[in-house]
Amino acid sequence: MLSDITKLDEKYFMQVFGKRLPVCFTIGEDVYLFDTDGKKYTDFLSGIAVNCLGYSDNGFKTALKNTIDNLMHTSNYFYIEQQAKLAEALCNATGMDNVFFQNSGAEAVEGALKLARKYHYNNGDQRQEIITIKGSFHGRTLATLAATGQDKFHEAFKPLIDTFTYVAPNDINELANTITNATAAVMIEPIIGEGGLISISNEYFQAVRALCDKHGALMIADEIQTGCGRTGEFLASPSLGAMPDVVVLAKSLGNGFPIGAFLARGKASTALLQGDHGSTFGGNHLACTAAYYVVNKLITTDMMSQVAQTGAYFKQQLNDLKQVFSCIQQVRGKGLMLGIDLDETVEAKSVLKKLLGMGFVTATAGENVLRFLPPYTIQTQHIDKLIAALKQVL
Ligand SMILES: Cc1ncc(COP(=O)(O)O)c(C=O)c1O
Repeated sequence: MLSDITKLDEKYFMQVFGKRLPVCFTIGEDVYLFDTDGKKYTDFLSGIAVNCLGYSDNGFKTALKNTIDNLMHTSNYFYIEQQAKLAEALCNATGMDNVFFQNSGAEAVEGALKLARKYHYNNGDQRQEIITIKGSFHGRTLATLAATGQDKFHEAFKPLIDTFTYVAPNDINELANTITNATAAVMIEPIIGEGGLISISNEYFQAVRALCDKHGALMIADEIQTGCGRTGEFLASPSLGAMPDVVVLAKSLGNGFPIGAFLARGKASTALLQGDHGSTFGGNHLACTAAYYVVNKLITTDMMSQVAQTGAYFKQQLNDLKQVFSCIQQVRGKGLMLGIDLDETVEAKSVLKKLLGMGFVTATAGENVLRFLPPYTIQTQHIDKLIAALKQVL
């Protein structure tokens, strides 16, 4: 019963999530979730951009079960077949040269930040300054909190690493005036996710690349949310017209099994050498089995073009809704990473709660954005039903 679970949670779990939404899901099927009362919901959240394949991919389940039966973990003292194969598949899918596996997004961002420092250290140049974007989100560890360009996350945890500088998104002049030959890296999300689905323009993304080249800094793309097909392509960066030196992935990569990765190319790929980094769990048999299945599925099927098509349909429906409801200020995002920015007359969180009551799982982001991150297997019929529910709520 939900009330029993709630009591345990309130007594024994640190209440960092406060009062959660009053639902506990126990079963996933196709694009649906079922709660403790058996009530059915259509999933437009996929565990915050994680469960990309939906809940009924039997190949995924079988692959994991086989690895559980055989061997889940040995340690990185030894070679791991699944890890080596996943590394190859990811490099082929992204055009990067090599990769390191971690257990979460924040940990993978940490790895990327270490790589940037080590890259300059190797050059006899101990650069520490890293530029990130105002409104960005990069994780909850101390370094990734510091990297996150939102004061509200910083206050209670000061002093933070003070080598981060934050610049406004899409303001090329500000970046040009901030970056110097002491800058180690610029880190950027191609679409600022948690911060409210703010798109980075092609012009800005390319300017980041050019300014990094000019000043010898590394360009890091945090593609934890945009990556692994979420925008309709394996990475969002290339379609913005520039390739970063380092790319960070997590979320959809494991389809629900925790795994993060940072990938590097060119000179950045040789920055971390023996003894510089490591992980007990990172890249173990089970995590790499999950991610290898996901990456193969994405690159050998038409799933990503489906994401692009369904996403375009979804965005069009949201734009049509905007014509009718003046409280929708803007439709944001790409692929199946979409949102509506609502004005002060409507609270995104209360729309979310009403939709939840009607059997639709969504999320909020930024100031007042209602956001949709469905599994890639979502279909137009599900979108139509959500749009009808949204009309009713708005
Ligand atoms: C862009 C981005 N970077 C980093 C993170 C942190 O990932 P994790 O929660 O797996 O540590 C997130 C999580 O929302 C994210 O969206």
